[in-house]
Amino acid sequence: MSVYLKPIRVLILYYSYSGQSSVLVRRLASGLGDEGVVVHQERICPLHPLRFPLGSILKTVRLMLTTLFRRRHPIEPLEVADGEPWDLVILGGPTWSWNVSGPILSLLDSRPQLFRGRPVLALISCRGYWSSHWRYLRRRLERMGATPLGPLVFDHPQAEPWRTLGVFFKIAGIAPERSSSPLSHFYRHFGHTPEQFEAAQQLGRQLAAHLKAGPIPPDFKYTP
Ligand SMILES: Cc1cc2nc3c(=O)[nH]c(=O)nc-3n(C[C@H](O)[C@H](O)[C@H](O)COP(=O)(O)O)c2cc1C
Repeated sequence: MSVYLKPIRVLILYYSYSGQSSVLVRRLASGLGDEGVVVHQERICPLHPLRFPLGSILKTVRLMLTTLFRRRHPIEPLEVADGEPWDLVILGGPTWSWNVSGPILSLLDSRPQLFRGRPVLALISCRGYWSSHWRYLRRRLERMGATPLGPLVFDHPQAEPWRTLGVFFKIAGIAPERSSSPLSHFYRHFGHTPEQFEAAQQLGRQLAAHLKAGPIPPDFKYTP
């Protein structure tokens, strides 16, 4: 039987606009906790919080367009200090217009020391189009001296074009899944499924086992 004298410590930093990444991160953290890993979680909060839903199609189009150009969303200071001894940092959040979201971009700009010299596992919540988000994030992490791992990608499992339309209308404030909506016939559920949330918890347990055995393998990915 092995004995672990030093607890394994994981820092999770995440942003979530419409709640999907929050649940994924909560379940992942719970899986890590099940296996005795010490987890410190911090949600990244924009200085000027974005209302969810935005409440209008115009505001939704504007957010999508500005995000396309990687507009930063300044963030509140974090509790966590630079230089703490984390065995792993997990960075979670949504894809916005094929990109890293504005609050995470601000975090990368303002707190590179949280990532430098560390393995950083990315968790991505998206409707399905995440590859350029990951390419950019991986490059940014490498440039700041981190070791990017993953990503753990959770997409919305609905069929196109409804998942794209569904997300758009949901953000605009028109709940397409509500039974009174004409779209509800095609779009029954916003976001991830209970099975995906369960998979996040399982991944937390698997991750804990890897952390106890040594470094996380570079091919530790999840793309269902
Ligand atoms: C402004 C904006 C742009 C988005 N652009 C994309 C995109 O390019 N690709 C994609 O797969 N999902 C996109 N989405 C959908 C989100 O990534 C998806 O709904 C995710 O599950 C939300 O996670 P959250 O609830 O943690 O914010 C976008 C959402 C928003 C709000």
